[in-house]
Amino acid sequence: MASPAQIRLRMRGIEKSFGPVHALAGVDLDVAAGGVHALIGENGAGKSTLMKVLSGAHQPDAGAMTLDDAPYRPSGPLDARRRGVAMIYQELALAPHLTVEQNIVLGREPATGGVVDRHAMRRAVNEALARLGDPELHPSDRVADLPPGLRQLVEVARALFGDARVVVMDEPTSSLSRAETERLFEVIDRLRARGVSVIYISHVIEDVRRVAQRYTVLRDGRSVADGDVPAAGAPEADSFGATVIEAMAGRRLDAVYPRVPHEPGEVVLEIDALSGARLPRAASLALRRGEILGIAGLVGAGRTELLRAIFGLDPVREGRVRVAGVSDAGAPPRDRWRQGMGLLSEDRAREGLALGLSIADNLTLSRPAARLGIVSRSDRDRATRALADRLSLRFRDCAQPVGQLSGGNQQKIALARLLHHNVDVLLFDEPTRGIDVGAKADIYQLMGELAARGKAILFVSSYLPELLGVCDRIAVMSRGHLGPARPTTDWSESSLIEAATSVAHG
Ligand SMILES: Nc1ncnc2c1ncn2[C@@H]1O[C@H](COP(=O)(O)OP(=O)(O)O)[C@@H](O)[C@H]1O
Ligand SMILES: [Mg+2]
Repeated sequence: MASPAQIRLRMRGIEKSFGPVHALAGVDLDVAAGGVHALIGENGAGKSTLMKVLSGAHQPDAGAMTLDDAPYRPSGPLDARRRGVAMIYQELALAPHLTVEQNIVLGREPATGGVVDRHAMRRAVNEALARLGDPELHPSDRVADLPPGLRQLVEVARALFGDARVVVMDEPTSSLSRAETERLFEVIDRLRARGVSVIYISHVIEDVRRVAQRYTVLRDGRSVADGDVPAAGAPEADSFGATVIEAMAGRRLDAVYPRVPHEPGEVVLEIDALSGARLPRAASLALRRGEILGIAGLVGAGRTELLRAIFGLDPVREGRVRVAGVSDAGAPPRDRWRQGMGLLSEDRAREGLALGLSIADNLTLSRPAARLGIVSRSDRDRATRALADRLSLRFRDCAQPVGQLSGGNQQKIALARLLHHNVDVLLFDEPTRGIDVGAKADIYQLMGELAARGKAILFVSSYLPELLGVCDRIAVMSRGHLGPARPTTDWSESSLIEAATSVAHG
């Protein structure tokens, strides 16, 4: 057990309401000195609000905090910063037209007798950069010219410049490439070694494992679980994902991942040594009716490109695709659609739905009869209602624009649209990203039901627990290469991570 002296930050009974919304209903959090503490929870759990209380942006309604055993109640963000609490925001808060150096020192230029001491300033900036392991950043680079990963490091450097004791990172990797993420993790390791406490907000369990030693799960504004993050290979490492998911969701895993019995049948989609312009590289797989085949891998491994090549959105350089017995060397999306294939893309706002159109229009859009105006309004609304019931979709009326719905409901509409067209082979790219637990469970349930009706589903996801929770088989993609599909029971989170991060040969 950590002795009190090792606790850097203590939060007790923190409450915060926004009008009727009880965003924080009494949260306790202990953060050790020189450690990385993961704060985990679904959207809306209260993570950002808690951190805004910590960083002085919100005043709590109740509760108390101590920082290195001294009472801590910041009057605002500047006060928090003076006390050594720095926040790295989800949306970067830098001034893009200024240089790296100007951004780092903004608001706290070292001055002697009211005059800014340029040499001292440059020295301090270089020191802050050196503490990050000298990333390829120059103090005079303009922030606007930097890629997102480096911009983020400038923010971290800015925090260090103020001698932060606690650095909060709110979902810092959401817009970073895998290489940038890995570099950020190295920087975090370095901060920890220097005795800085990092609070790391994420719901990516594999990232939490990589970077954190302790974790707390928030749900509905309360801390519902906490503990040590098990080391890789520890006996509880494989169940860590399930433990965290159950805590985040507040339901047992079998309620999160409902099992709908289904039986794989004959092969309906076969791809043979398929290569795209860059990715994938000679990918092969066979997907059966009544099967959910998962594809795991890191962001950038080529999974989206694989789906796009199969569906004809990207050119096929080499290889063949065989759908329902017909083989070709690539075909455009309209042919795939006719062959009974549908794609639910990652970017539903851009490719999946017409956000300005009604729910009913979105469902029936691009169905030939509807395009000719043959489907009557009442037929259409009836079809929409029937689908909505099956998906537990909640909306006021069929004429409501899709753009007004929650992300989860939008995703269900995109799915319903594929069902309405009676698609046989479904390609899903991260279908549950950014939606709440309840909507996720509905989507898993539906996937199971589709498989039970003989549909074939290719399921790309970065969220390992859901792959392990719903797939019959899983294959791992790494740097454009697709590994063999193995029964899900042969995989664990750690073996999937290992396969995803190993360098593929061939
Ligand atoms: N400024 C605000 N005004 C009103 N409601 C808010 C505000 N900030 C957060 N909330 C609400 O508080 C709850 C927790 O939100 P948040 O802390 O952002 O969660 P998380 O970061 O875990 O996704 C949500 O219901 C959210 O809608
Ligand atoms: Mg948040």
